[in-house]
Amino acid sequence: MRRWRRLADGTVLLDGFHALKHAVRFGARVPLALAEDRAAALALAEELAPDLTGTLDGLLREVPRGTLSALVPRPHPTGVAALAVRDDTALPAVRSAPVVVLDDPRHLGNVGAVIRLAAGAGAAGVLTTGTVDPWHPGVVRASAGLHFATCVRRCEPSALPAGPLYALDPEGRDIRGLPLPDDALVAFGSERHGLSDALRERADHLVALPMRVQVSSYNLATSVAMTLYHWMAGRAPEAARGDGA
Ligand SMILES: C[S@@+](CC[C@H](N)C(=O)[O-])C[C@H]1O[C@@H](n2cnc3c(N)ncnc32)[C@H](O)[C@@H]1O
Repeated sequence: MRRWRRLADGTVLLDGFHALKHAVRFGARVPLALAEDRAAALALAEELAPDLTGTLDGLLREVPRGTLSALVPRPHPTGVAALAVRDDTALPAVRSAPVVVLDDPRHLGNVGAVIRLAAGAGAAGVLTTGTVDPWHPGVVRASAGLHFATCVRRCEPSALPAGPLYALDPEGRDIRGLPLPDDALVAFGSERHGLSDALRERADHLVALPMRVQVSSYNLATSVAMTLYHWMAGRAPEAARGDGA
């Protein structure tokens, strides 16, 4: 039996109960969901996702541990794995929340963490330049299935959507004096090299997160968290709960 990672064109692996829960909650199509202990998975649903117990009851099929291990390299501690159809929905034409742009990110865990942040903050989407596939199984694992709660796509630097571009860089102007508009693109450089020349040239503003002297930079996902929090803090609490459309 071949592993799912190599076999499922157009689908992504949802690794564990939480990834399945998020994906289903945000409308993913899930053709197959497996549990090594179906009753335990449904008990988890009762506890953590009572809104989804009926749906998950209809989706989950029980398989022996050996079957799950043959399909998934390291089965999740919850003993749940599923396949979801990848969602290539485009960004909304009119946006009421920022788009996060990751300029040639390298670390799959960072990209997943950023997608999770974007989903939680209600950002309009996450665009990545460069070669990393933002739907790579390692990224979906790190996002806890929250790819389906925002728009996630790869994009050429020359094809970024319209909107004022705020490029984050320690050499920029302090973000505390600069409100972020809802239609902003907020761009972040790669873990090793920072912002590319292409993004710098396209930027309308170069923006810095406050940092103690002698510290060179924050981690990429941390920088996104601080920036999205800055945007959210500038909005009324009810507006900050929006869906980014
Ligand atoms: C790990 S840092 C990149 C460090 C890289 N060695 C460099 O030369 O820029 C990844 C990205 O996070 C953002 N970032 C990190 N710290 C920041 C800060 N203090 N202000 C603004 N952006 C920051 C920037 O977009 C940066 O390109």
